[in-house]
Amino acid sequence: MEKERTFIMIKPDAVQRGLIGQIISRFEQKGIKIIAMKMVAVDRHLAEQHYAIHRGKPFFEPTVQYIISSPVIAMVLEGINAIEMVRGMMGKTNPQEATMGTIRGDYGQLIGRNIVHGSDGKETAEKEIKLWFTPKEIAHYTRIDEQWMTE
Ligand code: RTP
Ligand code: MG
Repeated sequence: MEKERTFIMIKPDAVQRGLIGQIISRFEQKGIKIIAMKMVAVDRHLAEQHYAIHRGKPFFEPTVQYIISSPVIAMVLEGINAIEMVRGMMGKTNPQEATMGTIRGDYGQLIGRNIVHGSDGKETAEKEIKLWFTPKEIAHYTRIDEQWMTE
């Protein structure tokens, strides 16, 4: 397994409900490195680009409305197998189906208010990181526990 980068967004409902800290803590405690992070008041253009793959589907417009309704936290996380690992930590898209112990399972109720986004593959991750962050916004550093997180 190799080191990967993935794009994560804490969605407006989680920001409004005061869940930012708890969600970030989960990634920190897992040992996944945060290499970029900012609050963004997302505009329609960015939201439509982010969800471009879903254009034409019935949930496209409601999802764009949801993402622009209030600020989000955008992050880049780095770690071994980070893309799949974070998707696992998030749980299924529909919080009703997400296992307890996952972020969506623990905090969410509705598919249209599902707390977090995480890239679903390598290509998507690269595309999303470029869409949301400039290279200068991405930090390069070693976490002090890294030597204890590798074998
Ligand atoms: P995300 O992109 O936000 O990480 O979610 P995902 O990969 O788990 O799910 P995806 O199929 O990419 O759907 C993107 C977002 O659109 C909303 N959605 N609503 N009402 C519906 O049937 C429906 N389906 C999807 C959700 O907010 C979902 O996260
Ligand atoms: Mg998706």
